[in-house]
Amino acid sequence: MSNKVTLIATAAMGLEAIVGKEVKALGYEDIQIENGRVVFEADVSAIPRANLWLRTADRVKLLVGKFKATSFDELFENTKALPWETFIEEDGEFPVVGKSVKSKLYSVPDCQSIVKKAIVERLKVKHGIDSWLKETGAFYRVEVAIHKDEALLTIDTSGSGLHKRGYRVGQGEAPLKETLAAALVQITNWTPDQPFVDPFCGSGTIAIEAALIGQNIAPGFNREFASENWSFIPQKVWDDAFQEAEDAANYDQPLQIFGSDIDPDLIEIARKNAMEAGLGELITWKQMQMSDFKPKQENGYLVSNPPYGERMGEREEVEEMYRNLGTIMRDHPSWSVYILTSHEGFEKLYGKPATKKRKLFNGFIKTDYYQYFGRKPKSKPDNGKGFGF
Ligand SMILES: C[S@@+](CC[C@H](N)C(=O)[O-])C[C@H]1O[C@@H](n2cnc3c(N)ncnc32)[C@H](O)[C@@H]1O
Repeated sequence: MSNKVTLIATAAMGLEAIVGKEVKALGYEDIQIENGRVVFEADVSAIPRANLWLRTADRVKLLVGKFKATSFDELFENTKALPWETFIEEDGEFPVVGKSVKSKLYSVPDCQSIVKKAIVERLKVKHGIDSWLKETGAFYRVEVAIHKDEALLTIDTSGSGLHKRGYRVGQGEAPLKETLAAALVQITNWTPDQPFVDPFCGSGTIAIEAALIGQNIAPGFNREFASENWSFIPQKVWDDAFQEAEDAANYDQPLQIFGSDIDPDLIEIARKNAMEAGLGELITWKQMQMSDFKPKQENGYLVSNPPYGERMGEREEVEEMYRNLGTIMRDHPSWSVYILTSHEGFEKLYGKPATKKRKLFNGFIKTDYYQYFGRKPKSKPDNGKGFGF
């Protein structure tokens, strides 16, 4: 088998370019950014590396093939023609999932069973098996995704979604997905030597992702991936990727990251999550209402996902909070402020038009990411004055 594979890093709507940047930063040049995904060709070692390192992608899928399919016959024959045996071993377990959008073949259960049958036939011939396939071995989740009559056949290399870093032992009511939290941090120009605050930190996701970024810790370091058990990826390739992540981590990088929330139970949860992420006491957590936040340093970054005020009876309180935040931050022009909210009146309430806005989805909620760039620093940040609490 050639050592080259085509990988698809799937991305939430609006995050494709950021995932693309991450893929490039891993050293893969040959990339295409499409709706909801980044496609790139790479050596097989990109499977462990992409899974370990991509902070903002949802999953990494291996492209087995794509073709036009307007009839079940076409779907069957083209699926059977693909080199499944290079990836799926004799006893591999391979459930088939599917989706179909704007296509002649719209019955997803039928497409799934046709693809399953075609792969079974191919594997039996190629692996020389007369009876049924045992499917007791490694797990390969095959997906048939048909869009405008083009079928894309992939195998998921990640297992559970990449947002599952393995550190979330607890959560509040509306936790941010880790992949989105990492994107919020990456959109900023924050560097690890600058103060970083989330005054509505909830279970701590944004602050934890910032700390992982700040110390260059691979987000997937504490979890497992479906493709770890695949025989076509030599164990050494996985070992090297984990070793690379270990070597790249900069545990000595000092950080000034603070998370606060009005709810003491959430602060406890945030603390536990950070512990689980291996960050120990690196992040300072504090139970505090936002209105008590007073930045004491210059050139900090406030990155937050406050309540949106969508619930009955919550709106006025939230609007007052946004006004308050604007008033506090007006006295600290060197700070950069980044707020994710669905409240369309945010800029007015905050009292200032954003330097930049970006549309993002928080789950199914349409939000804007309001970005206020701080005044350019005149001098290096003073790190000796103590923190903002
Ligand atoms: C949308 S949640 C943040 C979720 C967080 N990003 C996470 O991943 O878990 C908003 C948070 O703001 C907190 N909050 C509400 N009013 C507050 C206030 N006046 N001061 C500080 N925090 C407040 C809530 O307790 C809640 O945890």
